[in-house]
Amino acid sequence: MQAEATLRPLRAEDRGTLRRILEQTLAFSTAEIRVALELIDYALGKPGQTDYRFAGIERPDGSLAGYMCYGEIPLSDRCWDLYWIAVNPADQGKGLGRTMIRSMEEDLRRRGARKLFIETGGKTSYGSTRAFYEASGYREMARLPDFFAPGDDKVIFGKDLA
Ligand SMILES: CC(C)(COP(=O)(O)OP(=O)(O)OC[C@H]1O[C@@H](n2cnc3c(N)ncnc32)[C@H](O)[C@@H]1OP(=O)(O)O)[C@@H](O)C(=O)NCCC(=O)NCCS
Repeated sequence: MQAEATLRPLRAEDRGTLRRILEQTLAFSTAEIRVALELIDYALGKPGQTDYRFAGIERPDGSLAGYMCYGEIPLSDRCWDLYWIAVNPADQGKGLGRTMIRSMEEDLRRRGARKLFIETGGKTSYGSTRAFYEASGYREMARLPDFFAPGDDKVIFGKDLA
C-alpha cells in the first residue's frame, strides 16, 4: 500500500471527503474541524497563497484517503509547523501517514527549513498519534500542562531538518 499511495494537490471537489475524514477519525472537536475546513477553503480559494501548504494522499484507485497541512511559522528563522494530518480510519496503519510525513520533510529540506514542530494533545486518547510522531523521528520538546483543558496538555514535538 505504501509504495502505491500518491501525493497530490487538493482540489475543490475534495472538500466533502476531507470533512468526512476529519469527522470519522474522532480525533478532532467540532471547532477543530471547522478551523481545518476554513484553512482548506482558504487554500482552495486562493491558489497562490503560501501561508498553508496542503497535500492529499490517494489510494491506488485514485480516491482520497488523507491530507496534511503545514506552513512556515511567521517571524521564526525557518521553523515550520505541521498544522493538520489526518488519514481515513480504514486506511490507517498502512503507511500513508508515514508517506505524507516523508514527503513533507523532503519538501521542507528543499525549501531550506531548519526545524519542524507539531502540536498535539497529551491525553491518553492521543497516544497512538504521539506514537506515530515518535516513530517518525520526532521528540517531545515541550509540554504545556492543562493547556486545552484541565488534564489536557499541549505537547509540542519537534525535529531538526537542517
Ligand atoms: C496519526 C495518523 C496521521 C497516522 O497515520 P497512519 O497512516 O495511520 O500511520 P502509519 O501507518 O504511516 O504509521 C507509521 C508508524 O507510526 C507508528 N504508529 C502508527 N499508528 C500507531 C498506533 N496506533 N500505535 C502505535 N504506533 C503507531 C508505527 O510505528 C507506524 O509504523 P509501522 O506500521 O511500521 O509500525 C493517523 O492515524 C490519523 O489520522 N489519526 C487521527 C488524526 C490525528 O490524530 N491527527 C493528528 C492530530 S495532532
